[in-house]
Amino acid sequence: MRHWVNSALSAIEADYQRSADTHLIKLELPNFEGINVYLKDESTHPTGSLKHRLARSLFLYALCNGKIDANTTVVEASSGSTAVSEAYFAKLIGVAFIAVMPKSTSAQKIAQIEGFGGHCHFVDNATQMHAVALKLAQESQGYFMDQFMYAERATDWRGNNNIAESIFRQMSHEPHPIPHTVVMSAGTGGTSATLGRYIRYLGYDTNLVVVDPENSAFYPSYLNQDPSYVTGISSRIEGIGRPQVEASFMPDVIDSMIQVPDLASIAAMLWLEQQTGRKAGPSTGTNLWGALEVAQNMRTQGLKGSIVTLLCDSGDRYLNTYHSASWVAKHIGDPKIYQHKLEEIFQ
Ligand SMILES: Cc1ncc(COP(=O)(O)O)c(C=O)c1O
Repeated sequence: MRHWVNSALSAIEADYQRSADTHLIKLELPNFEGINVYLKDESTHPTGSLKHRLARSLFLYALCNGKIDANTTVVEASSGSTAVSEAYFAKLIGVAFIAVMPKSTSAQKIAQIEGFGGHCHFVDNATQMHAVALKLAQESQGYFMDQFMYAERATDWRGNNNIAESIFRQMSHEPHPIPHTVVMSAGTGGTSATLGRYIRYLGYDTNLVVVDPENSAFYPSYLNQDPSYVTGISSRIEGIGRPQVEASFMPDVIDSMIQVPDLASIAAMLWLEQQTGRKAGPSTGTNLWGALEVAQNMRTQGLKGSIVTLLCDSGDRYLNTYHSASWVAKHIGDPKIYQHKLEEIFQ
């Protein structure tokens, strides 16, 4: 069995060697002299999102902890992006994969999971995913990957090409190489944990701001210092915001949080496309709205510096949802007031 684990680890390492790092894109912000905003474009991973990094780390963690062998069915609870990436790695090492997802998950993600040979199991809403995934794993004598539990510890946050190390390396020749602020949203909270730990580990003078959508428990729990805070309702921004605070969310490494209205996330997502031609997913809109708020605060205080955030995944996954005006009007509302705000700021 060790032989099988070794060959699985080799297959993942070979895949890694064939991969390139993701780009750091500099945005042109008129009227923001000396304040530079950058987007780390995680949509260019082979499975289309930042979750490619997490899925690789979770598989390595599970394999090295003796949790997966040739006959293990891997089960995951996911709003879709993690499941797409895990389906890819499951296929790479030849194990069965079941994704437990809300039935609202985008059709493109479902097609990708099935395209990698994964099976999709749907639940009515995000609050049911965990219990169902656990049950399916027990029934199949499989392994529940549990990204919400293990995201923070499966990633080697000190280095080993984690996203934080990559950002700081790519910034090294910029006018303000050490970012004033890094802005990130939270789904598992794993990426913000890695960023916050890395910033502390290397002693950088960088703020970590975590942005959170409406309906999510992360923001109120942070404000009230109450990890048991529960909203019990699903986030309307796919991929981020959770009904309860997840184990991988690390509030102690976060400098501040901003709650972003869901329609502001949509407005920022659409604004990015107007400015750069890049179609991103809605969580990127949340990140960008937060980054623009930080930029405005810096301008008011007369500060110069850089702000880095993430382009988490491509808008191609959401053509029939967040990129459809009629879908947005029906499920979230009218983003016009936030679009006008952006026009005012950048006129
Ligand atoms: C599209 C998208 N954006 C952002 C995130 C947040 O990343 P993390 O899980 O590391 O908090 C996720 C994952 O949950 C996601 O799927």
